[in-house]
Amino acid sequence: MRFSPIFFVIREMMQAAKQSVRIRGRIKRKRMIAMIKVLVAGFKGRMGNTTVQMVNKNKDFELTAVYDPRATESNLNEVSDYQELDVPVYNQLQQINGAEVDVWIDFTSPDSVFENVKYALEQRISPIVGTTGLTDDQVSQLQALAKKEKIGGLIAPNFGISAVLLMQFAQQAAKYLPDVEIIEMHHNNKLDAPSGTALNTAKLISKVRKEKVQGNPQEKEVLPGARGADYEGMKIHSVRLPGYVAHEQVLFGGQGEALTIRQDSFDRISFMSGVAVAVSKIQNYNELFVGLENIL
Ligand SMILES: NC(=O)c1ccc[n+]([C@@H]2O[C@H](COP(=O)([O-])OP(=O)(O)OC[C@H]3O[C@@H](n4cnc5c(N)ncnc54)[C@H](O)[C@@H]3O)[C@@H](O)[C@H]2O)c1
Repeated sequence: MRFSPIFFVIREMMQAAKQSVRIRGRIKRKRMIAMIKVLVAGFKGRMGNTTVQMVNKNKDFELTAVYDPRATESNLNEVSDYQELDVPVYNQLQQINGAEVDVWIDFTSPDSVFENVKYALEQRISPIVGTTGLTDDQVSQLQALAKKEKIGGLIAPNFGISAVLLMQFAQQAAKYLPDVEIIEMHHNNKLDAPSGTALNTAKLISKVRKEKVQGNPQEKEVLPGARGADYEGMKIHSVRLPGYVAHEQVLFGGQGEALTIRQDSFDRISFMSGVAVAVSKIQNYNELFVGLENIL
């Protein structure tokens, strides 16, 4: 029996289509199993512990290591809350091997975060940094390193959506109401003051507001520090009290009117959706951003 040439063309097209479905299926399966390998630095702390739980619950993430100089265990399954997890515990930076980690989540301390993030970038790991207290100079150095290594990363003074919105609203309001003071309130174990969020709010406001000395030029502080810290003429006040988590108010005053913008983080879980979004997206970039809004 003789087949017309059109038969062979159709047969070839069907074979190609079948092959393409098989390849698409393989790619899909591969994507499904290619979980993002995550390290949590500072896992013994309040934020680090909440982050370990979030990473563990997320089906797209694989917790491949945890790091904290305070750790005495060698595996997470030695910690009573995590007996089912087989994850190596490191207590020295040099023990961490870049090949086993894609993303480094850092909730540590102001005096260790720079070295941690530098090490992560050198190991070609994308850093997601929640730790506050980096200086502008340190941020610039890390950004230059990320650019050189072509690695995506994020430093977020606040991962809570309410804080991100507060900063955006405050920047908008400052265009019309340039007299502003910031009050941030945190738990009494916080090490740095003012908070990273308050400082970032002031920096964002200063982009739209001319530098201005507020209050009476003749004012005298009867108690030193009574008027708070000063950022380009804006006053920042830091409250530290037990029971608080993280809260901020931005107060604007105008002729016969005032505006207060406030956000409250009552639970550390509120930061986790922002951290998860950052972990999912960060490997698509090749620079180090400051502020969650840059990757939303
Ligand atoms: N960006 C945000 O949304 C956000 C939210 C809350 C807190 N924070 C910041 O996160 C940081 C941690 O806060 P916390 O309340 O969990 O503090 P914490 O004191 O409870 O925990 C810090 C942990 O880091 C560990 N640590 C110290 N040096 C380290 C190092 N070199 N490497 C790895 N781990 C190290 C400590 O042993 C401790 O276990 C602070 O800077 C805080 O301001 C940020």
